[in-house]
Amino acid sequence: MGFIQPRLLRRRLLATTKGKTMATINTNYNKVASAYVFSEIGKRVKAFIEKNPGVEIMRLGIGNTTEALTPTVVEGLMEGVKKLADTKTYTGYGDEQGDSRLRKELAAFYENRGISFEPEEIFISDGAKPDSANISSIFGSDNIVAVTDPVYPVYSDSNVIAGKKVVYMECKEENGFAPTLPKEKADLIFICSPNNPIGTVLTKKQLKAFVDYAKKEKAVIIFDAAYAEYISDKNLPRSIYEIPGAKSCAVEINSFSKLAGFTGVRLGWTVVPMDLVVEGEEKGKVNSLWNRRQTTMFNGASNIVQEGGLAVLSKKGQKECKKMVGYYMNNAKIIKRGISKMGLKAFGGENAPYIWLKVPGNMSSWEFFDKLLKEAQVVGTPGTAFGQGGEGYFRLSAFGHKENIEEAVKSIQKNLKL
Ligand SMILES: Cc1ncc(COP(=O)(O)O)c(C=O)c1O
Repeated sequence: MGFIQPRLLRRRLLATTKGKTMATINTNYNKVASAYVFSEIGKRVKAFIEKNPGVEIMRLGIGNTTEALTPTVVEGLMEGVKKLADTKTYTGYGDEQGDSRLRKELAAFYENRGISFEPEEIFISDGAKPDSANISSIFGSDNIVAVTDPVYPVYSDSNVIAGKKVVYMECKEENGFAPTLPKEKADLIFICSPNNPIGTVLTKKQLKAFVDYAKKEKAVIIFDAAYAEYISDKNLPRSIYEIPGAKSCAVEINSFSKLAGFTGVRLGWTVVPMDLVVEGEEKGKVNSLWNRRQTTMFNGASNIVQEGGLAVLSKKGQKECKKMVGYYMNNAKIIKRGISKMGLKAFGGENAPYIWLKVPGNMSSWEFFDKLLKEAQVVGTPGTAFGQGGEGYFRLSAFGHKENIEEAVKSIQKNLKL
């Protein structure tokens, strides 16, 4: 290093201490709630176990899959591994947008439902959560973002972190938990149906109101269909593209996590239709921007995992995965029936793996959490984990082994004092 004059050195040091040449953090992170709720749940459970050693805790709190991958899917994943074990079939980086075979199979998956897409409109990713956080970056920073309250937190937090203005759409019991349309003009609207945490599904009519709004206000809907395969009611939409005109105003995000047990395997997809239009841009621009984003910042989903995805979409794979979904939905039935019998008011759980329980009496969500833990040794998620709109509610999850679910429900029925 060359000699620096003392005067210059002093100036440089001063600038540093004033913070002028130092790195700074994105202070928007200070605006989002910390992972307080989930660490608080952990803390309370830990304290309870310490006070009551040997007592078994039953968990109905998490949205994580528990059942083994199906045989066809395991074969598919193994096929992926085998290909990598042989130089003749080995592949390194693949297309950032995803394996063209998988994109084609997903196009066929939509075609079976009467919705046509070119494979180029479907982008494979490592999951719906990252896609729903990343998608916002291709839209203007001054876009106003509408999310529901309660909300699956990534939609709100990722946009707050990006510095975008976030407004809330209430989901009230009196409206069947359908979100209200944005009160002020929104540019991006995040909707998830079937809903996490509420477990309800928007009807075609309710979804059409959002499509109509988006078309009128030139907004874009980001529709998360991660639980679409949990819908058994044929009248309910499993894709936003079942609503005429949605291709011009909606992106759809989906996942293999809950459809095939890929929570830890990681695979998802996002549909960005060529027909999608935004202010001042031609058709195809949003698709090309997402392509640009993915090719710049993502190196493609795992080739092994994509082989697994192809197996999920095979006839045999779909049949097996349907059975797995049915297993979790049977759990949902056990929970909903069990707690309803006691006179508790419960929503959802019929076309989604979550049950939204109305907290009895005037208790808060946290008070009910403590009561359920103390009296029945069951852990759930306070509604406030998903925003203020969740106060007075409680989420129970149907992901778990059937025996454990039955045991938890029995314990609630036997021990919870109402
Ligand atoms: C609504 C919703 N979208 C997305 C995800 C996560 O999907 P992935 O595992 O593909 O990231 C979840 C997980 O709980 C979810 O509830």
